[in-house]
Amino acid sequence: GIPLVIDTDTGSDDAVALLLAAAGDLGDVRAVTTVAGNVPVATATRNALVSLETAGRGDVPVHPGCDRPMTRTPSTAQHVHGQDGMGDIGLPDPLRAAEREHAVEVLLSAPRREPGALTLVTLGPLTNVAAALLRDRDLLSRYRHVYCMAGAADLRGNISPTAEFNVWADPEAARVVLGAATPDRVTWIGWDVSRKDAVMTPEDQLRLERLGTPMATFAHRVNRTVADWARDVTGLAGYDLPDPVAMAVALRPDLVVEREEAYVDVALGEETRGQLVIDRRRSAPAPNLTLVRRVSESGFKRLLFDTCARTVPP
Ligand code: BDR
Ligand code: CA
Repeated sequence: GIPLVIDTDTGSDDAVALLLAAAGDLGDVRAVTTVAGNVPVATATRNALVSLETAGRGDVPVHPGCDRPMTRTPSTAQHVHGQDGMGDIGLPDPLRAAEREHAVEVLLSAPRREPGALTLVTLGPLTNVAAALLRDRDLLSRYRHVYCMAGAADLRGNISPTAEFNVWADPEAARVVLGAATPDRVTWIGWDVSRKDAVMTPEDQLRLERLGTPMATFAHRVNRTVADWARDVTGLAGYDLPDPVAMAVALRPDLVVEREEAYVDVALGEETRGQLVIDRRRSAPAPNLTLVRRVSESGFKRLLFDTCARTVPP
């Protein structure tokens, strides 16, 4: 499998992304680092440990990271993902504790041991990665590739009219990453992609529930509050799975059906906080990012259902 380091603010959809990475044959998860985002970092750490255990990879080290954005006030999304970030279904405590080594140290040291071999996937605010970049400005080039669930390239937001949560939560960190990015090294998969190509329709939700395997039941149940919120608050038909889509692209780049290279910046002002500023003019600076715009819906869902259908040794 592809050797992975995963940085996550583990809530319900991060949890499904961890299953995709850890339970199948496509990924080989070397380390997980956690960050404050959807939930406080201690909760994210616990949720990552439980998710990895569910995937049969209770041996993967989990390293807690930054407990707040670089400069902004922390702001979680527990009204969407549940108080515990996992649908408040009464998940058991993890069987083991997190590691002591800080996430930022791991993001710095892991690619030094295996230069150019590791793929980094980020599923939360970019605080840990930015903190690591401030200490090693060439860090991104030490990874084979960096995939980030970040942004909303069509400017329809989920946390504000035009911003996506991970970029909005720590826009200064996102900017640090963009300042160091090149399109051959860094790919962002935005919330727009999951809304277009990865909506869990009521039929999909039923199918997941009926699979009945431990992983399918887990994936279904931890997304309970997200499903309710989508239906009752946003009025959208079904919930979306942004982090699993980003993970699927990292594991199976062939699932991408439309991509764009562009020069991207992040707005920091009050009204537009976290909005992507994509320069598509002829006079734009050279692209710094690859933006995924569409993925294969059938390919993504096959990967999701096939992974969840598996049973893992206890
Ligand atoms: C991002 O924020 C959270 O809701 C998801 O886990 C994803 O990482 C989407 O905006
Ligand atoms: Ca996330």
